[in-house]
Parts: sequence; structure tokens; C-alpha cells
Amino acid sequence: MKISTNIDGIQSLISMIQISLRSRTVARDAIGNEAAGVLSLLEPLPVLDGTFSRSTHPSIRHLNAAFESGSAATTDLLDAIRPVALDLPWRYSYALRDDAPGLGNNMAFAELIGPEAPYKSDRVCVGLTLIGPEIIYPSHSHPAVELYYVVAGKATWVANGVSRLIFPGEFILHGSQVVHAMLTTSEPLLAVYTWSGKDVISPSVYLVSG
Ligand SMILES: [Fe+2]
Repeated sequence: MKISTNIDGIQSLISMIQISLRSRTVARDAIGNEAAGVLSLLEPLPVLDGTFSRSTHPSIRHLNAAFESGSAATTDLLDAIRPVALDLPWRYSYALRDDAPGLGNNMAFAELIGPEAPYKSDRVCVGLTLIGPEIIYPSHSHPAVELYYVVAGKATWVANGVSRLIFPGEFILHGSQVVHAMLTTSEPLLAVYTWSGKDVISPSVYLVSG
């Protein structure tokens, strides 16, 4: 096992994500219950069995603008992301689409905890989503229940045919197989995501392949 990079910084980031989730469990609604369930799956923290190294993904060029697009509610989390942001396992995990050639260069996911993440778990995923400005993340779905916490950038979120402009500090819950999409504004979007439920291994798929 080779471990490089600032592991203390990575662990600080995971701790700050846990604090953000915990703050939302006060309200025992569907989002609060999902946050509580995810937190229970992170105790104990899955074992670190992979590496973190400097990312070369083109989407990381959007990070600096994202760091300027947070809110007072997300300052602490952004402060935890910033020192390790370039060392996260950013990747675009969908097949490329002919009808949306820019997606692979403008969207990336950095999974910290999950089946293929440095912290191995087959029961829960925790990561970051980064989407460049003026990008449509097309309709997609997955078996996992998904909780998002927007850290930076206001964007339009679409689920079940309903569009909402969502701001940093807000949570969004997607049930299993709910079709959802995002449209960013002039700001990039940076968000924490979690996956839980019966199947966190099957990937997300686009509703219509290009
Ligand atoms: Fe999703």
C-alpha cells in the first residue's frame, strides 16, 4: 500500500463533511434521516487502502472559481477542501457522449469513500462533484439513494420534473432511480455527495445515451 499526499488534510476534509451532515440531522425529515444513515455507515471510518496523488483532470481548472462561489454556511467546508483539492481522485466516470463533447472536460467526481475509492466501502460512497460554469449535467439515475450538499455555486437542479435554483448550504435528496439533472450558472458547482442504500456499486447512467 502506497500512501502519499496530505492524509491529515484528507481526514480533516472527511471530518468536516461529517460535521456538515450531522448539522442536518437535527431535522428528522427525509434529508435528516438520510444524513443520519450515512453517518452511521461512516462509523467506523472505512479503511484507507488506496492512494491520493496530484490530479491531472482538466476540470480542476474550475476549482479556483468554485472557491469564490461559496457562502458563509460553507466557509469551513471550503477551507477543508482547498488544501487537498488538487490531490483528490477526480475523474469523469460516464462514457463520453457525441452530443455533449465538453462534458468530460468540465465535470468530475472525486470519490473519497466507496467501492473504488481510497477509503474502501461497499456500503456507502462519499465524494465531491465539480461542474464547470454553463454546463448541463444531463438527466441520469442510479440505484443508490443520493444526498447532495452544495458547497459552492448556485445551480438549477431538476428532479421529478421540478426545477429549483439551489444555493450553497442547501441539501438535495434523490431517491433510488429518481431521474435528475443539473444546470450550472456562470459559477462552477462544487458539492459533496453521498450514496447509500441497497446498491452503491452500480454506476449512474444517462437517461438517453448520446
Ligand atoms: Fe445522482
